[in-house]
Amino acid sequence: MKILVTGVTGFIGSNFVYYYLSRHPERTIIGIDNLSYAGNLENLSLLSTDQKARFLFEKADITDPVRIEKIFSKYPVDGIINFAAETHVDRSIHDPLVFLKTNILGTHVLLEAAKNSWHTKDRGWKDGKKFLQVSTDEVYGALGPTGYFTEQTPLDPHSPYSASKASADLVVKAYHDTYGMPVNITRCSNNYGPWQFPEKLIPLVINNALSHKHIPVYGDGRQIRDWLHVEDHCRAIDLVYEKGRNGDIYNVGGNNEQENIAIIRKILALLQEMTGDPRINDTLISHVADRPGHDRKYAIDASKIKRDLRWDPGVPFDEGIARTVRWYLDNRDWMSHVISGDYTKFYDKNYGDR
Ligand code: NAD
Ligand code: TYD
Repeated sequence: MKILVTGVTGFIGSNFVYYYLSRHPERTIIGIDNLSYAGNLENLSLLSTDQKARFLFEKADITDPVRIEKIFSKYPVDGIINFAAETHVDRSIHDPLVFLKTNILGTHVLLEAAKNSWHTKDRGWKDGKKFLQVSTDEVYGALGPTGYFTEQTPLDPHSPYSASKASADLVVKAYHDTYGMPVNITRCSNNYGPWQFPEKLIPLVINNALSHKHIPVYGDGRQIRDWLHVEDHCRAIDLVYEKGRNGDIYNVGGNNEQENIAIIRKILALLQEMTGDPRINDTLISHVADRPGHDRKYAIDASKIKRDLRWDPGVPFDEGIARTVRWYLDNRDWMSHVISGDYTKFYDKNYGDR
């Protein structure tokens, strides 16, 4: 079985490659990434020899229909999991166009290639095919002080990032409703764990603290996110891909809502304890102007995936965040390659040129 996975050198995509290849020792991944600034081949440097043999990398842009069609004619594609996206809300505020192109048009290119390859006029859809769109809780907008997003919550995105992800979800739904394409959509809360680009809150805090740089807290820092360990997200995606009901949406979340400022304080305390460096403390915290349109609160009701697919978040936050902080301490070379830009030169003969 060959499954096409996009965005494989990003944060969640690379974690998923490790997870999937070890979980399914008989399967192969065709991995696609355009190696944008967020793509880092070093994220896949720990694949075993056996895993590398089952990981076929294609440098490709999902917005390029000719390139994507070529990949579909080169391999028999049994299914698609689409992680590839522009993902940083702050970047989307400054430069929305690439978000609309990659997240909406890129998703459409993949859907169209899948339809051309999987749909037969006489027989309908070939057996066993599925398109899984990896989406986000941010498509639901912001909550007030109470409540949770369910799969029925109306879409109400506020940032260009979340608007582009919500649009992509609607295009995926349209391919299901119009052509009968077998699809699922997952909408997950904020992930944390290894290999995350340090523009995102958790690795940014770790990196800045280790260099005694101030930590920019947007506004009062009391915005609430639900944090889930990336391994739990990977397991949820694998389950939905295998067992998700055709056409359904599944929310994924950790029931771990915390204020940003609490997360930041926790990381600083862990770092001080693990490094013994007294200069890493709360005085590094610096409140800065708030993000425009900043969503105040996200919280996910994940009861559907728990009930129907028997998924549960397995990593308790205190354990997961301690492991994550330790991982970044143990992988300072990885971080320094990202910060210096040297990661763009990372080369492995398995992957061809960048
Ligand atoms: P990331 O930015 O770390 O990785 C995205 C990857 O997609 C990168 O490797 C990048 O090079 C690649 N990419 C970007 N544009 C591309 C294009 N045009 N063609 C091919 N590849 C392209 O993001 P992430 O945090 O790993 O997120 C992965 C997916 O999960 C995204 O769809 C995101 O919306 C979703 N998601 C993320 C979170 C989170 O907390 N990080 C939560 C819920 C959902
Ligand atoms: P982020 O990691 O960018 O994820 P998202 O915006 O997709 O939730 O940010 C998480 C939260 O942390 C969000 O409320 C914005 C806030 N934040 C800061 O306060 N300072 C920062 O430097 C960053 C990157 C984020």
